[in-house]
Amino acid sequence: MNTYELLSSLKIKEIYGQLPKTIGSIHHDSRESKPNSLFACLRGYTVDGHDYYLEAIKNGATIIVAEEMLEMDLDKTALIVVKDSYKALAILASKFYSYPSQRMTLFGVTGTNGKTTVTTLMKHLLQKNNSQVALSGTNGFDFDNEISPSNNTTCDVLTNQKMLHKAHHLGIDHMIMEVSSHGLIQGRLWGIDFDIVTFTNLSQDHLDYHDTMDQYGNTKSLLFSQLGNDLSKHKAAVLNKDESWFVTYNSMTPFEVISYAIYSDADFKAVDIRYYEDATYFTLLSPEGKYPIQTKLLGEFNVYNILAAIASVYAKGDYAVADLAKTVKDIEQINGRMQKLDVDIPIRVYIDYAHTPDAIEKSISSVAPFKQNRIIFVAGTGGNRDPLKRPIMAEKASAADYVILTINDPRFEDPADILYDMEKGMQHDNYELIPDRKEAILQAIEISEPGDIVIIAGKGQEDYQIIEDKKYPHSDMDIALEKCMSKFHFKV
Ligand SMILES: Nc1ncnc2c1ncn2[C@@H]1O[C@H](COP(=O)(O)OP(=O)(O)OP(=O)(O)O)[C@@H](O)[C@H]1O
Ligand SMILES: [Mg+2]
Repeated sequence: MNTYELLSSLKIKEIYGQLPKTIGSIHHDSRESKPNSLFACLRGYTVDGHDYYLEAIKNGATIIVAEEMLEMDLDKTALIVVKDSYKALAILASKFYSYPSQRMTLFGVTGTNGKTTVTTLMKHLLQKNNSQVALSGTNGFDFDNEISPSNNTTCDVLTNQKMLHKAHHLGIDHMIMEVSSHGLIQGRLWGIDFDIVTFTNLSQDHLDYHDTMDQYGNTKSLLFSQLGNDLSKHKAAVLNKDESWFVTYNSMTPFEVISYAIYSDADFKAVDIRYYEDATYFTLLSPEGKYPIQTKLLGEFNVYNILAAIASVYAKGDYAVADLAKTVKDIEQINGRMQKLDVDIPIRVYIDYAHTPDAIEKSISSVAPFKQNRIIFVAGTGGNRDPLKRPIMAEKASAADYVILTINDPRFEDPADILYDMEKGMQHDNYELIPDRKEAILQAIEISEPGDIVIIAGKGQEDYQIIEDKKYPHSDMDIALEKCMSKFHFKV
């Protein structure tokens, strides 16, 4: 891209050296810098990009964007000093990739729990109604079913623009993004022009990062204010009316708010809900009438997720509720989200991703309606993450008849310390502590009796375990399946 065009929207403090005529790529990781590129020095929490500009130059960077004067050979590389290089990168990346979000329909979903589920449901609803969809979130990037991994639920500002550009280039016109509170507070969504933003729920998580629930809730509100103020566009916010943050988020945007709820009056409301072991049924009341819904997803929380997904796709204005409602029954269970082991055995085993107190509560209550015997719950939490939630997770897990407390990614923490923190929250004595996650899963199935429900929570479909800073192969599903095969003598 022509350098002068690229820099035209940027407020520059000083320019030193000779600017190259064109720029071929933009980077903020010096290891990825290429010849004829621009390198932005970002000050991160652990790393300062200003320490790496020489490596970027060695790799061929011809422009360095920094917040201070840096020593370099100005005959070879130009230096641009700006007030805030993170904001500068957002401006430059959006321009470099030609503002792709303005040329697509952008959906953003935020909330403590349910983001992956709701975005995946939306993807299926759109695809089954003949649209091409890209999705970014916890499970990586999905460009209309071509999957590639990502490092975070919400990626950095540059990766986001790159990914949007790629999607647009592939002819995909709908992009759905899972938006984390970390992503919002760190400005990773700057430059993204959202059309429809959706809120699932808010409960305790990440309080090691946000300090208070108010701060956490206010951070989430950034997504709604980021819809902007340009009323010439059709935009909307989709909000859960059963949540107390509804009122605040409703006031954050001048655009239409579409509400959904089970207990309050709302635009999209589920009534007459019936829960079964393999399916959930309800009646959807919507602005376009009443429709029966049948889904393979289980539990009340998934009724919320389905309402959120239907309302969000409807908010776009191109799809009839009748078509969306019909499509729901064809959507498979979401991997690792209350996913039932699909085998014919006398116990029921579910793999779930619940790793917050609220999700644990919801996970257990989702199987309560068809409980015949005991609920055995394996709860695991990670090391070096929000210790405040540990006892509350165990407290919520106490709703199960028998609880096995274990670890989920110990990282650098001593598993005994994590279990000690969790154990403080237990409300009854029917539990044991098993630090090794595999052993915990084997034990849960070993002690199960006909009619029992075993929920293995915390990891979902993830295929690794993080010990110190290394990832080791691990699959809750494979461990559970193998144990069930040996206990109940069958083969798959
Ligand atoms: N609407 C909901 N309300 C409460 N709990 C939910 C809801 N949806 C899902 N859950 C629970 O939370 C777990 C995680 O769901 P999901 O992966 O969809 O959430 P997420 O918001 O994407 O999580 P993360 O922040 O880790 O990306 C599920 O396995 C389930 O136990
Ligand atoms: Mg997620």
